[in-house]
Amino acid sequence: MARVFLCRELPFPALDRLSSQHDVDIWEERTPPPPDAFLARAQQADALLTTVTDKVDGAFLDQAPSVKAIANLAVGTDNIDLEAAKQRGIPVGNTPGVLTDATADIAFALLLAVARRIVEGDREVREDRWAPWHPSHMLGGDLADQTLGIIGWGRIGQAMARRGEGFGMRVVHHSRSSGIPLDELLETSDYVSLHTPLTPETRHLMGAEQFARMKPTAYFVNTSRGGTVDQVALREALENGEIAGAGLDVTDPEPLPADDPLLSAPNLVVVPHVGSATVRTRSRMADLAVDNLLAALAGEEMPNRVA
Ligand code: DGY
Repeated sequence: MARVFLCRELPFPALDRLSSQHDVDIWEERTPPPPDAFLARAQQADALLTTVTDKVDGAFLDQAPSVKAIANLAVGTDNIDLEAAKQRGIPVGNTPGVLTDATADIAFALLLAVARRIVEGDREVREDRWAPWHPSHMLGGDLADQTLGIIGWGRIGQAMARRGEGFGMRVVHHSRSSGIPLDELLETSDYVSLHTPLTPETRHLMGAEQFARMKPTAYFVNTSRGGTVDQVALREALENGEIAGAGLDVTDPEPLPADDPLLSAPNLVVVPHVGSATVRTRSRMADLAVDNLLAALAGEEMPNRVA
């Protein structure tokens, strides 16, 4: 029986499968373990179940030599230094596929919310400011016949494309290996949705130059990682009317403090990294993470190994 440290409670059936075979040590608080507490618990563990907020690098692994496997409860693994894990022979697994639709749903929900001013409208009603019907009240952007530009052509980007097609949009995409050049996508799209993993190459992929290339009537959506966007540039683009609006599920940092200057920008909808937050999706993510742990602890290959 091995000891597994879970950086968060896992309220899904997968936990029973894990705890029936191994000794589980669960971080019971809703907030992430602070770095010192995380390290102290990892030093007692053979394997870790981490989430997007739990950072693991080479120095951490050197101080927790008992750790032999890591299962990240996410498809993105930018919180883990994969190269450092690889060098130390520690397998790292993720949870691909099962969160594709839920994440694309949130991306499309943000697109609709910002283009059709849903949050602003709700606020107007609740704050007793409901202005009588007027031909120019709360005008937003159309979707049908507009161009949806998708950056990153993995599972989630393609699922977003299917949603756009369902709404009668024209879809173009840009990725490292296919599609149109990024500048062309930015200049011709009415909606730009970002779906790349966060890597050194994609950090601040969207900066001042990229926002300036977008149409002033275009909307931007990000459900990838906050670090892919230069948030100062995004705020300036919104404030200066270089783009029409933005919808974000991810920011840098997370949580974004309520007094962050970004939140004073106009035409911005932000939700707190909930792309994969549906009951079925999170349960399936837990299943994949536990599958990865059980395999590694049995000395087998993780079914979804990334390093
Ligand atoms: C992921 O899986 O990478 C998501 O961001 C977690 O919701």
